[in-house]
Amino acid sequence: MKRIAVLTSGGDAPGMNAAVRAVVRTAIYNNMEVFGIRYGYAGLLKEDFIKMELGSVGDLIHRGGTFLYTARCMEFYEEETQKRAAEILRKHEIDGLVVIGGDGSYRGAMKLTNLGVPCIGIPATIDNDIFGTEFTIGFDTAINTVLDAVDKIRDTASSHERTYVIEVMGRDCGDIAAWAGVATGAETVIVPNVPYDINDTVKKLQRGRARGKQYSIILVAEGAGSATDIGKQIEELTGFDTRVTILGHVQRGGSPTAKDRVLASEFGSYAVQLLLAGKKGRAIGIEQNRIIDYAFEEALKKTNQQGDKLSILCDQLSI
Ligand code: ADP
Ligand code: F6P
Repeated sequence: MKRIAVLTSGGDAPGMNAAVRAVVRTAIYNNMEVFGIRYGYAGLLKEDFIKMELGSVGDLIHRGGTFLYTARCMEFYEEETQKRAAEILRKHEIDGLVVIGGDGSYRGAMKLTNLGVPCIGIPATIDNDIFGTEFTIGFDTAINTVLDAVDKIRDTASSHERTYVIEVMGRDCGDIAAWAGVATGAETVIVPNVPYDINDTVKKLQRGRARGKQYSIILVAEGAGSATDIGKQIEELTGFDTRVTILGHVQRGGSPTAKDRVLASEFGSYAVQLLLAGKKGRAIGIEQNRIIDYAFEEALKKTNQQGDKLSILCDQLSI
């Protein structure tokens, strides 16, 4: 293992830069050559490789986004394209590839591994949807962004005595909504896998008003429904002045939190150590504060839904 490459793929996540930095610095520390591939799998196909030096990753640890750029590359779903990518990596004498991204990026990395290119996956997505790891890079920053936004909405919600329905990202995973729901003391969190009845929410809102609650916050995970529709229903059924906010891509940006920077640094370093140990086709994760690795196949079995129990707790605590 003398020459390795690293790329970021799929949706960007705060902390991706810190992960690339850790990969590059650990590789150089171990006397390896390391290349950054720009624009994910799309850049790989265009041979957009740049040699990384110690200074290439300076002044980056605190920056959101990804300085290597990212892409969603439709062409890469085809087997012929994956074979061409493996050939390109062989041509550049790349012995191993670190893929930083979500489950889609893992699928691509698994295919490349099966075509003879040893790949290691680092979980980086704000959604926290990757099975087998308690946390993905970017999640902590995203929930803190949501927290900040909801706290601000609270000010105006209380001034006008309004109900707010706030939609957060997460694809099919409810973790952003569930964690932010507990942390902001929301009335209700609506997540994909936990059954939800609008009438229960309405009763809860009415009970709250009766005991003097002036405003309410409801968080909806995008995979569980549309905040716009839910907001309309609530206003019709309660008569309460209701507003809807869709937080959107603000959740993907910002300087990574300390937790995300440390996680990214540990994952990046561990990825290089796995390649040095001759491992391939492994996804990295964290479990009970320990860095772990497991097969891509395991990571791709299902979507993480750890937040489900938190959404129930949120409901109980905002009785
Ligand atoms: P994420 O990695 O954040 O889940 P995507 O699902 O968009 O983001 O996947 C990122 C990229 O990974 C895709 O644009 C595609 O190039 C590649 N990819 C996703 N799924 C597959 C697959 N089944 N086979 C090969 N490549 C894939
Ligand atoms: O996977 C990260 C994510 O932000 C999801 O939460 C969201 O559904 C999706 O990406 C949005 O994708 P795009 O940036 O392509 O609009």
